[in-house]
Amino acid sequence: MSENVLELSNIVKRFPGVLANDHVNLTLKRGEVHALLGENGAGKTTLMNITYGIYKMDEGTIYVNGKKAEITSPHRAMEYGIGMIQQHFSLVPSFSVAENIALGLREAQILPKVELVGKKVKTLAEKFGLSIDPDSRIWQLSAGEQQRVEILKLLYINAHIMILDEPTAILTPQEAKNLFKTIREMVKFGASVIFISHKLNEVLEISDRITVMRHGKVVDTIPKSEANERILAKKMVGREVVLKVSKDPPKPKEVELEVKNLWAKGDKGLYAVRNVNLEVKAGEILGIAGVAGNGQRELAESIYGLRRYTGKVKIEGEMVKPLNVVSRIKKGVAYIPQDRKGVALCGGLPLYYNLFLKRPFRVPEFYLNPYLFNLARLKNPSRQLVNEYLISTSSVNLEAKYLSGGNMQKVVLARELSLNPKLIIAVHPTRGLDVGAMEFVYKTLLRARSNGAAILLIAGDLEEIFTLSDRVAVLYEGEIVGYSKPDESHLEEIGLMMAGVRRDKSENKS
Ligand SMILES: Nc1ncnc2c1ncn2[C@@H]1O[C@H](COP(=O)(O)OP(=O)(O)O)[C@@H](O)[C@H]1O
Ligand SMILES: [Mg+2]
Repeated sequence: MSENVLELSNIVKRFPGVLANDHVNLTLKRGEVHALLGENGAGKTTLMNITYGIYKMDEGTIYVNGKKAEITSPHRAMEYGIGMIQQHFSLVPSFSVAENIALGLREAQILPKVELVGKKVKTLAEKFGLSIDPDSRIWQLSAGEQQRVEILKLLYINAHIMILDEPTAILTPQEAKNLFKTIREMVKFGASVIFISHKLNEVLEISDRITVMRHGKVVDTIPKSEANERILAKKMVGREVVLKVSKDPPKPKEVELEVKNLWAKGDKGLYAVRNVNLEVKAGEILGIAGVAGNGQRELAESIYGLRRYTGKVKIEGEMVKPLNVVSRIKKGVAYIPQDRKGVALCGGLPLYYNLFLKRPFRVPEFYLNPYLFNLARLKNPSRQLVNEYLISTSSVNLEAKYLSGGNMQKVVLARELSLNPKLIIAVHPTRGLDVGAMEFVYKTLLRARSNGAAILLIAGDLEEIFTLSDRVAVLYEGEIVGYSKPDESHLEEIGLMMAGVRRDKSENKS
């Protein structure tokens, strides 16, 4: 038998307008964890969807155990021993764990008895350290637990080639550690694993070899022993990047934002923000850490006046009312929302329009009348912003939707930060950006801080929180469960709080 359990040879996949996989070669050795690393859009998921029979490749050959394989569907992939956990799970919420696994087996054309499945699941769960009750319903489980069900499905059918697509995106640091333990167990029992991520530290922790993809191509495959964060980041973005941006000591001044006893409901009508109290001073960055879905978005929207709330929001010592965005804009509050395509930008409008959407509230010469911009006066200042914020575009007349993610975010930053805001609310400001664009966002936010802005930074990525924040608060189920210092030595403590372990409600201001 060949040492390579899987070999992808010259895989090509085109989508309209994109060469998603450009003659990709990748081998998976028996018993290795092989990381597939690359920024968003690099082509990782596409490659694995081809391997798992979801997409049909345009060119190329796949070999399993040294023999040419015809993988035309996930069912065929499973017959070859290939299993994949996708970014979005395919579990039936009202079914139990065992029933879901039984259902997965039917897809693999094995017809099992649910009771027997339950028994075997229990054994497997114990063997691989995946604590789960086979009788619990999927809807009762956290995202991390649902992922364990997906893993059990693969173990059940004896998949020996396991593909995990960004499995840690939905996990707390502790859950990620447990997942890594499970992966090591699976390898011990003979599996080979492809682990997809864009997080350098994880890749360095779990993998034996690392393949870096960029723009649909494989840049390089190297053993972990030859890799470090700098080398990998450079390969990912194709240039030398400064991952740790330098930061002056904070000089906090007067309180710019004060939030008291804030309660707000989420879209499902349940409280998503529960009695939040916080303060952000001019010249400092308060980071809000937490696993996605713990009230971050609702908190930001309430403070910015987009969502109904009870409690108090004071900006520069003055109360502002709920659901009143204009009052925030007039006070010079900048908002960098999570959703840059849907909320921050109007994709169908030209750049110059997007760059100045908020100005009429503050710069009267942009008014033609109370309802219309003086568009003719926008173009030259737009060109200036395009230069200053290094937005790469053919023209200021280009519609925003044609920009890359990184350039879209630069447009948002240019619009929101060019008027020297006193308060900035930034939600996941670098999500989906490559390392180069990320560095730009970091530097821009830190420059605003040096200029005396108060910044409330909501981010899932702890690296980002550590890089930027002066203090960090952790949000769990809508509550601030504690404060900590934003550095690696407090990682454990922050991770525990992210999983709901309460530390101290009062802020440690030392
Ligand atoms: N089903 C699809 N239809 C059209 N374009 C797609 C589809 N899936 C992926 N793409 C495009 O292919 C490229 C690679 O995407 P993807 O494989 O998802 O990257 P990654 O997983 O590395 O983030 C992107 O430009 C993406 O927009
Ligand atoms: Mg992907």
